[in-house]
Amino acid sequence: MRTVRITRFGGPDVLTIAEAPAPRAQEGEVLVRVVASALNPVDDKTREGAIGEGAPPLPMTLGWELTGIVVDSREESLPVGERVFGMSHQLDTARGTWADLVAVPVGSLAAAPSAVSLVEAATLPLPGLTALQTLDWLDLRAGERLLVAGAAGAVGGLAVQLARARGVRVDALVSRPAQVEAAQELGAEWATTDPADLPSAAYDAVFDTFGAFVTGAVADGGRYASVATQAGPVPDLSGRSVRTTVNQVREDGPGLAELAKAVDAGQVKARVEAQYGLQDVRAAHEHFRRGRLTGKIALVL
Ligand SMILES: NC(=O)c1ccc[n+]([C@@H]2O[C@H](COP(=O)([O-])OP(=O)(O)OC[C@H]3O[C@@H](n4cnc5c(N)ncnc54)[C@H](OP(=O)(O)O)[C@@H]3O)[C@@H](O)[C@H]2O)c1
Repeated sequence: MRTVRITRFGGPDVLTIAEAPAPRAQEGEVLVRVVASALNPVDDKTREGAIGEGAPPLPMTLGWELTGIVVDSREESLPVGERVFGMSHQLDTARGTWADLVAVPVGSLAAAPSAVSLVEAATLPLPGLTALQTLDWLDLRAGERLLVAGAAGAVGGLAVQLARARGVRVDALVSRPAQVEAAQELGAEWATTDPADLPSAAYDAVFDTFGAFVTGAVADGGRYASVATQAGPVPDLSGRSVRTTVNQVREDGPGLAELAKAVDAGQVKARVEAQYGLQDVRAAHEHFRRGRLTGKIALVL
């Protein structure tokens, strides 16, 4: 079967399609024939060698997200033939998803949403779980005010939609004027490109996806979560009784099931900027690196 492998770090030219033996499902795993995956910032950083000591050893297979069809299973909840979507924590497990077949722990998968294609669904697991788990940590109630920094990005866009579905009032900080409208279409009441425009101490919570550290915007006693791991910790706000965290996404089948429900209820849309066949994975990475994306880049196997 085909895998996307790297044997050294560098630009998109280090990506190769390599043949590998088909994996077998071990106890507690199901075997998935992969239909699609998608690119995430972590894949770009991993390929570049920018992760450092946290990365699996070379050679490695890349990829965190997958959708596909179960082809071997002893699990009643996910039988052979089931359409599934899942996330593999590739940095922790070295289990890359850019392969024709992947053996995945059953607890890291869920039935895929039925309202969208498997290509669209493949763009959701990593940013969707990041958004969901971080919103859960922020513990927002209906009517509370949330600021999402980076609201037009993959994680930010899903955070806006999932928070709106919980009845939360959302404002947005985005990087360029074209994203103001995009954030509002996703459900933000108000959006700005300028951190200086943000009201002071106005938000019950801030969800920061790029290391904006707009700490003046959070109310005393509020919550501030960043997912921009490489930007470092959130400044200490304990003097204002603001709880802070840098959240790390984890594999989470129940979270995926919740995400699928939100998609099928029309509360969350998948945004696909472009799709590439596996053989064009280098072009997909080049596209990703050009930036200014309005959706995710899908890889179709
Ligand atoms: N901790 C975790 O477990 C976890 C999980 C998933 C992702 N992440 C990290 O979270 C970050 C976001 O991921 P993503 O998939 O959402 O990436 P993305 O789709 O590229 O979104 C990032 C968004 O932030 C915007 N942005 C960047 N710099 C900005 C600035 N100075 N002012 C305003 N907006 C700015 C970008 O705008 P432009 O398009 O104009 O650049 C883009 O809309 C990445 O660093 C990723 O590695 C962490």
